[in-house]
Amino acid sequence: MAHFAHARVDLDAIADNARLLRERAGGTPLMGVVKADGYGHGMLPAARAVLAGGATWLGTAFIHEALALREAGITAPVLAWIVPPGEPVAAAVGADIDLGVSDRAILDEVVEAARRLGRTARVQLKADTGLNRGGVGPADWPHLVEAAARAEDAGHVRVSGVWSHFACADEPGHPSIGRQLSAFHEALEAADKVGLTPDVRHIANSAALLTLPEARFDLVRGGIASYGLIPIPGYTVSGIRPAMTLHSRVALAKRVPSDSGVSYGHRYVTERETTLALVPLGYGDGVPRAATNKGPVLLGGRRRTIAGTVCMDQFVVDVGDDPVRAGDDAILFGDPSTDPGVPTAEDWAEILDTIPYEIVTRVGARVPREYVGGA
Ligand SMILES: Cc1ncc(COP(=O)(O)O)c(C=O)c1O
Repeated sequence: MAHFAHARVDLDAIADNARLLRERAGGTPLMGVVKADGYGHGMLPAARAVLAGGATWLGTAFIHEALALREAGITAPVLAWIVPPGEPVAAAVGADIDLGVSDRAILDEVVEAARRLGRTARVQLKADTGLNRGGVGPADWPHLVEAAARAEDAGHVRVSGVWSHFACADEPGHPSIGRQLSAFHEALEAADKVGLTPDVRHIANSAALLTLPEARFDLVRGGIASYGLIPIPGYTVSGIRPAMTLHSRVALAKRVPSDSGVSYGHRYVTERETTLALVPLGYGDGVPRAATNKGPVLLGGRRRTIAGTVCMDQFVVDVGDDPVRAGDDAILFGDPSTDPGVPTAEDWAEILDTIPYEIVTRVGARVPREYVGGA
């Protein structure tokens, strides 16, 4: 029996989006980014879908995510890019996972693991070109590439990639973009000078792969756009379609008089006698509490707004005199081309002053994913 709420994930949409992104990137090989449970869509189904759509690499944040891909029998190249101390580096080396090296200490740890295993570890050196998050900045970069070249000569590592990440690619024309590209070219030259020959040089995320041909290099990393969401407000890409639809249903509908305070804190008060519909989905399922009196919902065929405070397990919608009944569909976000009038995750992001990544990624474990397509 279907759960009261579910997130429907269209795997054909993910595969088609991946295909489209490759085309948009002029055929540059695509890494499908499947970290954080495939941005909430389910990591393994999402990984299989992007690969079916032509991605040849997968990207995860953590080693345990990459190992789960291997355990599921996925043999495509995988890069795991956040390697804090104590991570299962040896297991990653044993599973042929490329490791992001953001720091000299990580390189040393990987070399040590490779030495113990008698294997050559695959590493991708990360240059910090201006995001000032992970990666090695220009002052330390020459030392890192020299150390990596020595480890490669000794057979402990293969430097399979050099890469970086943009700070403001979702703001086309931002002055930091050109600066980061120049810094990336300098980092690549320094790697070249010490004899490194990476197979893949990459810096583009979804926004950059869509808008910056000069950022494509050998590989583009497509995350959010593979799931059908565009990270640049107001920018449209024809053919890209959202893969996730968040469904629930009305649990009960009841008439209340005018001047009734609704939900915790009575932050919504009815202006006349009306029908309130209760939707059993709340912040425990990932509906942001900030959607109180703001979140859009398609209910009874019309787009409406959440009335009052979003609770842990439920929220209320004022449907006026419309004939809404228990069991009617309530769709929070999805694809307007399949469900006309439905809000998108981008609409939710705009209303809540956040990004669509957060809207889909936070859909909670209590909400079952139902997969369609992907045959
Ligand atoms: C290092 C790195 N590369 C690529 C991506 C994918 O970015 P997007 O989802 O914007 O395509 C992310 C996502 O946050 C990331 O952290």
